[in-house]
Amino acid sequence: MSILVTGGAGYIGSHTVVELLNIGQEVIIIDNFSNSKPEVLDSIRKITGKDFKFYEINYLNREALEKIFEENKDIESVINFAGFKAVGESVEKPIEYYTNNISGALVLLDTMRKYGVKKFVFSSSATVYGNPERIPLTEDCRIGGTTNPYGTTKLYIEQILKDIYKSDNSWDIAILRYFNPVGAHESGLIGEEPKGIPNNLMPYIVRVAAGMLKELSVYGNDYDTPDGTGVRDYIHVVDLAKGHIKAIEKLNKEKHGLFIYNLGTGVGYSVLDMVKAFEKVTGKQVPYKIAPRREGDIATCYSDPTKAKNELDWVATKTLEDMCKDSWKFIQNRM
Ligand code: UD1
Repeated sequence: MSILVTGGAGYIGSHTVVELLNIGQEVIIIDNFSNSKPEVLDSIRKITGKDFKFYEINYLNREALEKIFEENKDIESVINFAGFKAVGESVEKPIEYYTNNISGALVLLDTMRKYGVKKFVFSSSATVYGNPERIPLTEDCRIGGTTNPYGTTKLYIEQILKDIYKSDNSWDIAILRYFNPVGAHESGLIGEEPKGIPNNLMPYIVRVAAGMLKELSVYGNDYDTPDGTGVRDYIHVVDLAKGHIKAIEKLNKEKHGLFIYNLGTGVGYSVLDMVKAFEKVTGKQVPYKIAPRREGDIATCYSDPTKAKNELDWVATKTLEDMCKDSWKFIQNRM
């Protein structure tokens, strides 16, 4: 039986495909390289020594998608990573974001229904909690109040999935709410490659340390946090990838249901904690300046990952040092 992975050449997708292949799972990837590169596929083969089927298509292309289900009658489940994810860009291009993320998910889900495939894992985000009701965040915390179209697509797709399950409870759906994915595969062969100047903290720090960018702007040091800078739950992408394996296992053994899990470490680090940890691990300086707060940012966001531990038998095991070391190794390989 195969697992179809949309966006399998992307950052989290590629790491998840590696983990799937490592456990002997048959994988079919679809990707249109809108935010990834074909060479990632070779890196996956190199890391795992295994092969997979690949289709270069846009998942909005219903005809092409149906052809894949037609050709691969053994598809048992789908993991959907094919989403646009840049917060700032989503504010500039809401139509593109709603079309790609929401219409894409709908075409995919409709095609799955047509072919009787009803196991679905969805990449959601801690962003659905908006301004957190309480910290640490548990899955039953209030959701909503997203501040940008990217976040709103995650919120709406969660609602769509709940409605689909309500209408037909023979679906098995896992909604995974990621906290802040960072790091790279320990081989240094795959990792995060944002286009242009990165918006997220870790890719920015890495580029400053590598001399590609001059200095980091720390967005605000007057938050109500221990050192005044924003606190987040950074999670190593390989831990995150392993969470998907556990989610698939859960869907395979449960009778049917819709399950929601936070995937985080449960530990919050500030921006300055991240800078210090990175400097310590790599021996590189990360010059920074304090800048005004960034619009839409919150002071503190970290998870309570207990539900995933109890129900999926999953915990994040990689340390902050691993996150820094692996991010650094990846960028050095690319220079
Ligand atoms: C952001 C998105 C979130 C998305 C996640 C992963 C927002 C409001 N949220 O989370 O929806 O799921 O990325 O892609 O954009 N920081 C700096 N300087 C920088 C960059 C970041 O000080 O140059 C600070 C931020 O203010 C924040 C922390 O670092 O306190 C983490 O920022 P970032 O990596 O962008 O992630 P989030 O904002 O938490």
